Amino acid sequence: MNLKQKAAEKAVEAIQDGMKVGLGTGSTAYWAIQKIGERVAQGLHIQAVATSQASEDLARELGIPIIPFDQIGRLDVTIDGADEVNEQLVLVKGGGGALLREKIVESNSDRLIIIVDESKDVKVLGTFPLPVEVVPFASEWTLEALRQTGCQAEWRIQDGERYLTDNGNYIADCRYGTIENPQELEIRLNQIPGVVENGLFINMADQVIIARANGQIDIRN
Ligand code: 5RP
Repeated sequence: MNLKQKAAEKAVEAIQDGMKVGLGTGSTAYWAIQKIGERVAQGLHIQAVATSQASEDLARELGIPIIPFDQIGRLDVTIDGADEVNEQLVLVKGGGGALLREKIVESNSDRLIIIVDESKDVKVLGTFPLPVEVVPFASEWTLEALRQTGCQAEWRIQDGERYLTDNGNYIADCRYGTIENPQELEIRLNQIPGVVENGLFINMADQVIIARANGQIDIRN
């Protein structure tokens, strides 16, 4: 079993019958959705929403009941991956481009469990370029404003084209090198017109499950 799968399967132990569950996005969340699908096939009753079209499609394939957002109410738990986590449970997310939906879903969840392999556990955030979702309108001005916050910002490109999120927006990947003060940076980013959301998740994770190559699973609360 790979490390992502290990962390994911540990997290899925928290899901109980009757819960409303948020499904994350990415290659680690994939394993959580697989495991949830397995438990649903064995009789677990849950209601779910997904943080991306890809995760929703996967969940439906596995028979996990997907409920419309306006009918599900507040979620009990969401399980998702991250690109970086630090000691204070601050996260960088959005490597898979789903940061906006993830932040909305996870803000409406009583509990957020983050699942990572040990490569994501960092002392200081910022090695992974911070994803920022930007509306297409006049977006070069927004990109320039992002650069003024002290990063090298580039549009995300996929298959030779400007990457489009599930919401039809662009992603600017912002290389800061180190993010010493995520709280301050988040405020600056949110003040830029044209920025829809940024990949800093502060005071959101309740638990981080880290699977290590030595076989250990660390749980950080
Ligand atoms: C998607 C995310 C993912 O959780 C993050 O990119 C981690 O992905 P992976 O598990 O594939 O490493 O934030 O927007």
